[in-house]
Amino acid sequence: MFSKSFPFQSLFTLAHRRFLTSILVALVAMFGWGLAPALAAKDIPAVALSPTETITFTERELARGKKLFNANCAQCHVGGQTYPNPDVSLKLSDLEGATPPRDNVLAIVDYIKNPVTYDGVESLLEYHPNTQLISEYPRLRNLNDEDLKLIAGYILVQAKTLPGWGGTKSESHSDLAGYL
Ligand code: HEC
Repeated sequence: MFSKSFPFQSLFTLAHRRFLTSILVALVAMFGWGLAPALAAKDIPAVALSPTETITFTERELARGKKLFNANCAQCHVGGQTYPNPDVSLKLSDLEGATPPRDNVLAIVDYIKNPVTYDGVESLLEYHPNTQLISEYPRLRNLNDEDLKLIAGYILVQAKTLPGWGGTKSESHSDLAGYL
């Protein structure tokens, strides 16, 4: 004769195991959730947000920045070069040398809203794509501040991590097809 306690026992064990398993699953999920972005972020350098603050973008944010950059900027800035003015490229040393320096996220965002010459003296509103003259540059109309930040973040991370970003002054535009 079967012991009456048997089904209860097995039910208890089952519930017990399920309970333990769910704790394990929860732990793995919590760890994975907290750990995954931290691990990915380890390979992504912090960049300057302003002259005094830094910011670290996530992989996801940079992927979006890249997409927006490719759609709106790459036709003139492929590989960080500037066509047709290679002296004002998107490499860090060129961004740093501008007046005021453009080697941080907010300065680049500001440039896309209100571009000025390298010496900061003259407005390039009529000349460089920007979010002010939306009748001239209707495609930029849809970019909000967050989008502009992600584009700037993408530029700065590329400038920090990609050798050759911005090219050399003698490099021809067509040599950079590999960056696309
Ligand atoms: C039609 C071509 C064109 C497009 C599109 C374009 N740019 Fe430019 N960009 C230029 C040119 C030309 C210059 C150099 C202006 C000058 O002579 O000062 C420049 C300069 C810059 C600079 C200053 C670089 C430095 O070293 O000071 C930044 C930043 C910049 N562009 C960002 C962008 C971003 C971001 C986008 C996309 C939203 C974009 N540009 C789209 C042509 C373009």
